[in-house]
Amino acid sequence: MESRRLAVISNRLPIVLKREKRGKWVTEPGSGGLVTALGPVLRNREGLWIGWVGTNEEETPSGPLLNDLLSRGTRETGYSLKPVNLTREEVGKYYHGFSNEILWPLFHDLFSHCNFDPCYWEAYQGVNNKFARAVIENTQESDYVWVHDYQLILVGRELKRLGITRQAGFFLHIPFPPLDIFLKLPWRFEILEALMEYDLIGFQTTRDLRNFIGCVRALLDYQVKGTKYLNSIIHHDREVIVGAFPISIDYREFADLARTEEVAEKAWIIHANIPEQQLILGVDRLDYTKGIPERLRAFGHALACYPDMRGHISLIQVVVPSRTGVEEYEKLKQEIERIVGEINGRYTDIGWTPIHYIYRSLSRTELVAYYKTCEIALITPLKDGMNLIAKEYCASNIEEKGVLILSEFAGAASQLHQNVILVNPYDRQRTADAIHSAFVMDLEQRRSRMRRLRRSIQRHNVIDWVNTFLRAGISKDLRDFPQAELFVPSQ
Ligand code: UDP
Ligand code: G6P
Repeated sequence: MESRRLAVISNRLPIVLKREKRGKWVTEPGSGGLVTALGPVLRNREGLWIGWVGTNEEETPSGPLLNDLLSRGTRETGYSLKPVNLTREEVGKYYHGFSNEILWPLFHDLFSHCNFDPCYWEAYQGVNNKFARAVIENTQESDYVWVHDYQLILVGRELKRLGITRQAGFFLHIPFPPLDIFLKLPWRFEILEALMEYDLIGFQTTRDLRNFIGCVRALLDYQVKGTKYLNSIIHHDREVIVGAFPISIDYREFADLARTEEVAEKAWIIHANIPEQQLILGVDRLDYTKGIPERLRAFGHALACYPDMRGHISLIQVVVPSRTGVEEYEKLKQEIERIVGEINGRYTDIGWTPIHYIYRSLSRTELVAYYKTCEIALITPLKDGMNLIAKEYCASNIEEKGVLILSEFAGAASQLHQNVILVNPYDRQRTADAIHSAFVMDLEQRRSRMRRLRRSIQRHNVIDWVNTFLRAGISKDLRDFPQAELFVPSQ
């Protein structure tokens, strides 16, 4: 009998293909929370991952070169990678267009960033159909198909239209908006009805789940019953399970890495080069949902209001390039650089630079070194599905001296709110006050808060997230899928 496999479908594969300056193709790990979360889960499973390699079809290598790059990716990631090629036009209209100019801003309540161009919808349907065909080609009926995120909402619907039966679940990594925002989407019925084609739909938080149910009740008039965390929607003769499954990280991986010599050495170098300062860390993909300009202004305001911090605190703001080539993201980069320049220009003194700005992606070792050594993390998205940086910071903060300042609009706040300093990122004064409170917080308080944060993240790690989702969907967990090699789940 054929064994059951777990097939993960997401817009991106966990690797991206990149052409180096001298023309050589290489693979690089993808960035973003989805890849970090799913990576350790599929590693060593006999699973497969279907997704886009991040380049236009017209320039993507083909034949033996592509196979070679993908096998390298498979060796690095431990699972079988199946590429879906997108043409330049599809990248423009499906990825930059419908996904990132419509669903991304709308679902993050940032309606003013939306561009409801009708031609994007056609492309979105076409690419979702392409992904559905890739699922059919690469999976068998016994496999469990797990579709991820807003770029691929229609895959379940397209599978059915192509006459194919697969047990399929969907997880939305970004927030689900409230009814009054969702109503603005010209394709609101199509999107909602398409979601109902999955057997299980997962959201990050109970707030997202409530928003979704509110939309289903108002727009589709289906019957819904259940609890705060898990509901069932009765639709004709089908039952669709919908639940809140907050995503997490591989706690052990971050905590163990933070204990290595390599990280210790890097952490030491960071502090040695910025001596006698408390370091306050921000790490974000370049994205307007992350609230980077608002945060920089709050930090500048804190320096203005609290002169005792001047010369004794430095903000390290890491911005990871993302969705490059999109005008809005380019403008945001310029705005960030302008604000950094303004604040540094105003306050820099001999031996003290208020903001150290890094615009590139970091290796995992570097990132964990910053997490380990920075006394404060300032994570203030305007809205975020979860925000894994917040959890990674705590897991890596093995000396338990760090303070986490967290936006109340990050999904992570619903789990961590009791032991962080919660802020409204739009409130510059209170965010500045929060920075000062973190700056003066005594060691005992820092320790007791950080210890509790770490315990909570350790208890609810990414393996539990997958298992809870799979149990709700198919009454199975990861152990029911074959292993390629010995797999030791972190606890
Ligand atoms: N990250 C990365 N490269 C970096 C810095 C961060 O891949 O240089 C990862 C980080 O480890 C985290 C993810 O990017 O897992 C960001 O996830 P988050 O949920 O915070 O936000 P997203 O980018 O998914 O919106
Ligand atoms: C967020 C989304 C992911 C996406 C990631 C990076 O985490 O939820 O679906 O992959 O950002 O964005 P990108 O557009 O580069 O894939």
